[in-house]
Amino acid sequence: MKTLLVTGGAGFIGANFVRLTLSAYPQYRVIVVDKLTYAANRANVPDGVEFVRGDICDAELMDRLVRDCDIVVHFAAESHNDNSLENPRPFLDSNIIGTYTILEAVRRHGKRLHHISTDEVFGDLELDDPNRFTETTPYNPSSPYSSTKASSDLLVRAWIRSFGIAATISNCSNNYGPYQHIEKFIPRQITNILCGLPAKLYGTGEQVRDWIHVDDHNTAVHLILDKGVLGDTYIIGADNDHVNNKQVIEMICELMGGEFEHVADRPGHDMRYAMDSTKLRTTLGWEPKYTDAMRDGLKQTIAWYRDNEDWWRPQKDAIEAAYAARGQ
Ligand SMILES: NC(=O)c1ccc[n+]([C@@H]2O[C@H](COP(=O)([O-])OP(=O)(O)OC[C@H]3O[C@@H](n4cnc5c(N)ncnc54)[C@H](O)[C@@H]3O)[C@@H](O)[C@H]2O)c1
Repeated sequence: MKTLLVTGGAGFIGANFVRLTLSAYPQYRVIVVDKLTYAANRANVPDGVEFVRGDICDAELMDRLVRDCDIVVHFAAESHNDNSLENPRPFLDSNIIGTYTILEAVRRHGKRLHHISTDEVFGDLELDDPNRFTETTPYNPSSPYSSTKASSDLLVRAWIRSFGIAATISNCSNNYGPYQHIEKFIPRQITNILCGLPAKLYGTGEQVRDWIHVDDHNTAVHLILDKGVLGDTYIIGADNDHVNNKQVIEMICELMGGEFEHVADRPGHDMRYAMDSTKLRTTLGWEPKYTDAMRDGLKQTIAWYRDNEDWWRPQKDAIEAAYAARGQ
C-alpha cells in the first residue's frame, strides 16, 4: 500500500479527491495536510483519514511529511481570484513559496509529485476565438491568482529539468461539484436559490469557463498518477466550452425553479477558456463521466447542496454581505 500526501485536502477539490480515493482506489493510504484557511472545512476530511493542520510553507513540517509518504498530490493554494485582487500577498506565499517548499522536500527525499494547476495560467481567449489551450500554449496569466499559479507551474518544470524530480503537472478548467465554497460562482447561485434569493450573473454572462465536474478532474489525476509520463503536463477539460455563464445560470434556475438578476462584472474578467484534453484522452484513455453539457453534473451538485445545508448555511449571510459591498 502506498501513502499519498494530499496538500489542501480540506478544500474543495482536495476533499473530493480524498473521498474518491477512499472509495475507488484502496491501494492508497491518505494523509492530508492543510492550513485550514477560510476556504477549508475540517469536516470535509472524512473520519479515519490522518489529518495534519499545517502550512505548506513550513519547511520542517513538509520535510517530515514528504519523507514519510510515497507520493505528494499538491492541491493546496489560495484559489479565489477576487481575493487576489484585494490582497495578493497570501497568494504569493502559499502558491509560490509553498510549492517551492514542497519541491525542495520532494527533491531531498526522491518522492513522486503531482502538481495541480489551472487553465487560468494561459490567460483568456476572445469569445469568437475557436482555439483551445493545449499543453504547449504559452503562459499569459491575467490576475495575481493566475500569475502565482503560473509561477508554481514554472517552478515544477524547472525542478523536473534541473534536478530530475519525478513530477507531473495538470492544468484543469473550472470545477464544480459538492464541497465547493459558496463564494464560488456555481454554489453561490445554487445556495441563493435555496435561500429564496435571485441567482447573480456578473455582467452579460457571455464568459465561457469550460466547466468540469470535480470527480472528472480527480479521475484524471488518478490516471496521471497511475500511467502519466514523468515530466509531462496534461490538460484536463470536459469539452463544455460551448456553455457560457448565462446558460449555466439559466440551467440552474430551470432545474431549481429560480430566477436571476444581473450584477456588476468583475474587473479584468477573463472572457473565454477552452481546453483541448486530446493528450489525456488518447494517451491515458480518460473520459469524463458527467457529460450532457453539465446538466447531469449540475443536478448532482444541486442535490448535494440541498441535502447539506448545515455545511454551507452558517457562512451564507457573510458571503452575500461581502458581495453586496462590491455591488455584486
Ligand atoms: N476550483 C477550480 O475550479 C480549479 C480549477 C483548476 C485548478 N484548481 C487548483 O486546484 C487546487 C485546489 O483548488 P480548490 O478550488 O479546491 O481550492 P480551495 O480554496 O477550496 O482549497 C484550497 C485548500 O488549500 C489550503 N491551503 C491554502 N494555503 C495553504 C497553505 N499555505 N498550507 C496548507 N494548506 C493551504 C486551504 O486551507 C484549502 O483547504 C488549487 O491548486 C487550484 O489552483 C482549481
